Amino acid sequence: MLPLRQFACSWWSCLLNSRAPCVKTLVHGDQRRLFNTSNSRMTIMPAWVIDRYGSNDVLRFTKNAGFPIINYPNEVVVQVHAAGLNPIDVSMRGGYGAATMAMKRDPLNINQSGSEFPLILGRDMSGVIMECGLDVAPAYFKEGDEVWAAIPPWKQGSLAEFVVLSANEVSKKPKCLSHIEAAAVPYVAATAWSALVNTGGLNKDNCAKKRILILGGSGGVGTFSIQMLKAWGAHVTVTCSQNAERLVRGLGVDHVVDYTAGPVEVPLRALEKFDLVLDNVGGDTESWALGLLKPWCGAKYVTLVTPFLRNTDQLGIADGMLQTGVTVASKALKHLSKGVHYRWGMFAPNGLALDDISEMVDAGKVLFNLSVSFSVEPPAVFPFIIVINDLTSKSTNEMLGAPRGR
Ligand SMILES: NC(=O)c1ccc[n+]([C@@H]2O[C@H](COP(=O)([O-])OP(=O)(O)OC[C@H]3O[C@@H](n4cnc5c(N)ncnc54)[C@H](OP(=O)(O)O)[C@@H]3O)[C@@H](O)[C@H]2O)c1
Repeated sequence: MLPLRQFACSWWSCLLNSRAPCVKTLVHGDQRRLFNTSNSRMTIMPAWVIDRYGSNDVLRFTKNAGFPIINYPNEVVVQVHAAGLNPIDVSMRGGYGAATMAMKRDPLNINQSGSEFPLILGRDMSGVIMECGLDVAPAYFKEGDEVWAAIPPWKQGSLAEFVVLSANEVSKKPKCLSHIEAAAVPYVAATAWSALVNTGGLNKDNCAKKRILILGGSGGVGTFSIQMLKAWGAHVTVTCSQNAERLVRGLGVDHVVDYTAGPVEVPLRALEKFDLVLDNVGGDTESWALGLLKPWCGAKYVTLVTPFLRNTDQLGIADGMLQTGVTVASKALKHLSKGVHYRWGMFAPNGLALDDISEMVDAGKVLFNLSVSFSVEPPAVFPFIIVINDLTSKSTNEMLGAPRGR
């Protein structure tokens, strides 16, 4: 695998650097890249796109993807130095969430169906700002800043040379991470932040001594959540397979329950009750997990596995949202009557949260030692993309044999 990965990275690097229809020089590390988005010749860029929903064979590499332009004065153009994939990218390739994303892109339903194509996937990004909209204060961002971001699923993604994002979605990348390392983090970090902070009401000042249970602690969201909560002083219990026990213990978890050893709810019921349960697993967990919360204490169950996008895909926007509203409201009421809160967590783009996370990473409170793997046979489909599924002790660059950044 290693030579293939090495080939893939160098191939992508060469490809991107081969274009130079530009008039301005930007210095980044030891690389010099000519760039000017107002240049009339700068209308296309290389990207991986899909022209319809389907399996891997819908992916197409093109050198002629439309160059993203600044539409609003608070937007920035970022040159992508590293991109990351998440399970949502694979689902979106197959059409998951298409109805809701279409509504977000085109709320007035002016465009014809299929106007999202060619669609660029890729939710994680680390790169360098190339141009700022007029409202972007230099105190926040300026050309040449190294940034990272989780790209909302309704926007064109990071499997491209450039992306346009709102300055609110972008944050300065941690100094201690390379672009490749940084591109592993934002989507899971923003999801964990949204679930724990926005939905769960936790923060660095109120976590001390709180008992938190994470169902599915060894995945992307779980491993990030563990570190955030431990940095904030919480007591953290997780469920994961026995194989992952060393990993989660290394991240500071206080108690581990192996879900492969039998019905996981049995050992969990024997433990002291929790202030918050974060559910990354779904399925039948709802039937027993709320019983693990302290009743009448403001305790919350937050699940990231929700039927929202599936409902709108199957029933259409109006019926799907109605169905979703009825489902969540009835469950919330049912559990409120038992003294616990039932909530759905959602990914939310959040540059301010990434600012805090960046500080935590640079302070060594959150560790990112990445294992890097391709989701599909390289180099046929995503030759330059890294898929980050779990954390191990190897540095990404070492594993890839790739240069830092580009
Ligand atoms: N709502 C949203 O906006 C949103 C956003 C992002 C993610 N999500 C959802 O959140 C969930 C977690 O995302 P992720 O990126 O962390 O996924 P992930 O990296 O695939 O991790 C899932 C983890 O769950 C563990 N697992 C599987 N079955 C389990 C069980 N029965 N009990 C305990 N652990 C189990 C697996 O661990 P082992 O290796 O130990 O088996 C795996 O590491 C996914 O369902 C994803 O779809 C939702």
